[in-house]
Amino acid sequence: MGKLPSRLESKLAKRRAEDSVRNLPVPKNLIGFSSNDYLGFSREPAIHLEALEILKTVGCDGNGATGSRLLSGNHVLYPQLENFLAEHHKAESALVFNSGYDANLGFFASVPQRGDLVLYDELIHASIRDGIKMGNAKSHKFAHNDLEDVKKKVVASLDGPTGNGKQGQSSNNRPEVYIVTESVFSMDGDSPDLLAFSQFCSEQGYHLIVDEAHATGIYGKGRDLVCALGIQDQVFARIITFGKAMGCHGAAILGSAALRMYLINFARSFIYTTALSPHSVATILASYHHLKNAGIESLDVLEQNIRLFKAEINKLGIADRFVESDSAVHCLLVPGNGTVKSLAGALQQKGFDVKPILSPTVVEGQERLRFCLHAFNSEEEIVQLVEETKNQLSI
Ligand SMILES: Cc1ncc(COP(=O)(O)O)c(C=O)c1O
Repeated sequence: MGKLPSRLESKLAKRRAEDSVRNLPVPKNLIGFSSNDYLGFSREPAIHLEALEILKTVGCDGNGATGSRLLSGNHVLYPQLENFLAEHHKAESALVFNSGYDANLGFFASVPQRGDLVLYDELIHASIRDGIKMGNAKSHKFAHNDLEDVKKKVVASLDGPTGNGKQGQSSNNRPEVYIVTESVFSMDGDSPDLLAFSQFCSEQGYHLIVDEAHATGIYGKGRDLVCALGIQDQVFARIITFGKAMGCHGAAILGSAALRMYLINFARSFIYTTALSPHSVATILASYHHLKNAGIESLDVLEQNIRLFKAEINKLGIADRFVESDSAVHCLLVPGNGTVKSLAGALQQKGFDVKPILSPTVVEGQERLRFCLHAFNSEEEIVQLVEETKNQLSI
């Protein structure tokens, strides 16, 4: 076995020195406050059984997909799922990818073209950053959730007083402008003013793209936040993912039929990979069926749990240390990798599965404890978690 090259060794050594080495955690049987399984669907036996029923209905008793969707992997369940997703999420079309990471990579590496401009929120997910890096468009970040900063950055980047493109340029050559945000930010749990973003983009003829990973299945009666706000026709593309509230795996890009056709032809993370297995596709369908029936109750319970958590942190006087959030993700700022790690360790000792988010995943000084709330958390567990957190903060 070869030795790790010395430059790689020194990168690991630097991580160790900064107390930010990533290790794979050993699963422990703690009270769950860290997974993205917001509705508890990953542990729902009814979904597992229905997926098997769906496979039986289409006569599938196989395992793998056998190839890319463009070759042998386009199982009959794919059109069923994509038609369902388009209708449920009120989009013209849906295209399933193997994961949200793949969807973002494929979209951002292929859609914005050389000469175009991509403006993305400074806290945008790594998969979007990676996709943008792989593409040829010019890109700049804007201050978190700050539409005024978007406006300034467009004008500065395009040299035009109205932000509509370089003066004197014909509309044919005009750069396309893509504005990218998330409906619920993964590491903060907060949301942009999507109504204002969509109005601005519509007025200016810019393309708004919303990553709905942490909103999929939660808002708008099991749809997403864009749908809940009724602005789906003003959004160029939405990325929905199934690995979080839907409790399974995979993702889809929602948009026009023309965008779907473009992605099938040019998104390399869609083309050059083995498709999801029929079982995975059936599980996504089963998960949505469950959500539309028995699962709707879980949405109410999740909402009540979020309200309870917020009421408790207010009652115990620690709310001002949290990032403001109405979603299932709540973050307590605890600067310093060492400090946040020991607070997480203390809460784990008390039986709560909460994870520290370290730099460089977040900016240095913004390290935090991330609490993910679920429909399956009991009131008692939430009250005890907040009490224990307050106790640890006072030590
Ligand atoms: C905002 C956001 N987008 C995309 C992804 C990637 O999704 P997936 O886990 O399906 O690859 C994540 C997951 O961490 C995310 O939080």
